[in-house]
Amino acid sequence: MRTPIIAGNWKMNKTVSEARELVSEMIPFLKDVQGVTTVLCPPASALLPIAAMLEGTDIGLGAQNMHWEANGAYTGELAPAMVSEFGQYVILGHSERREYFGETDETVNKKVHAAQANGLIPIVCVGETLEENEANQTSAIVSRQIQAGLAGVKSDLVIAYEPIWAIGTGRAATSEMANATIKIIREVLADIFGNEVAQGIRILYGGSVKGSNAAEYFAQSDIDGALIGGAALKADDFVKIVYVSRAEVMKGNS
Ligand code: 13P
Repeated sequence: MRTPIIAGNWKMNKTVSEARELVSEMIPFLKDVQGVTTVLCPPASALLPIAAMLEGTDIGLGAQNMHWEANGAYTGELAPAMVSEFGQYVILGHSERREYFGETDETVNKKVHAAQANGLIPIVCVGETLEENEANQTSAIVSRQIQAGLAGVKSDLVIAYEPIWAIGTGRAATSEMANATIKIIREVLADIFGNEVAQGIRILYGGSVKGSNAAEYFAQSDIDGALIGGAALKADDFVKIVYVSRAEVMKGNS
């Protein structure tokens, strides 16, 4: 049984005071929640203050990106050890980083190695564009992203499948479509790590997940939670998604 993860990727949203307000609304509902791992990924500026607020709770904290080098002349970047001072997770290879900031499978791979070496759990994002999807290339694209991005790494990681055409568009992939691609991802993971290990790796779906559609995803066999963008900026929606995932686990256990 894989414990689901609900991770909120806040992207470039929320000043520190806004971040504090949002987290203080969530904490009463999430601090002791069992049977699901919750992770908040605020912008880098809010990592320190939010880490202080999350102390003593079961809520995890992550960064949205980091560099692979330990230190040096990399203006604007955060080193792995800087992230691990505050958080336990780091999102790597998000499609927005690939599209706007030149992230490649090779840089993602270096970052996954560096994250694991610093005790961080990487949340590695993969997904195809609309054109690739329409050309039936989804399986080839995500397989390449997984094989290249995870070359030589350990299995302590989380994968997020985020079809690019479903991000921030309100046009979510159907739960069946998402599950089918996630099954393919799990097969690629089995080739890399062996089947038993692959069965234990959490694979999330991301792309227009909201409180109102989350249950459909979590009812699927291979979807182990979600990486949430827009809905993670609203306390009630994010809390609802966490509770829905928990309800699905309870159903599965009974
Ligand atoms: P939305 O939930 O806003 O579609 O964003 C998904 C995402 O990119 C999370 O990383």
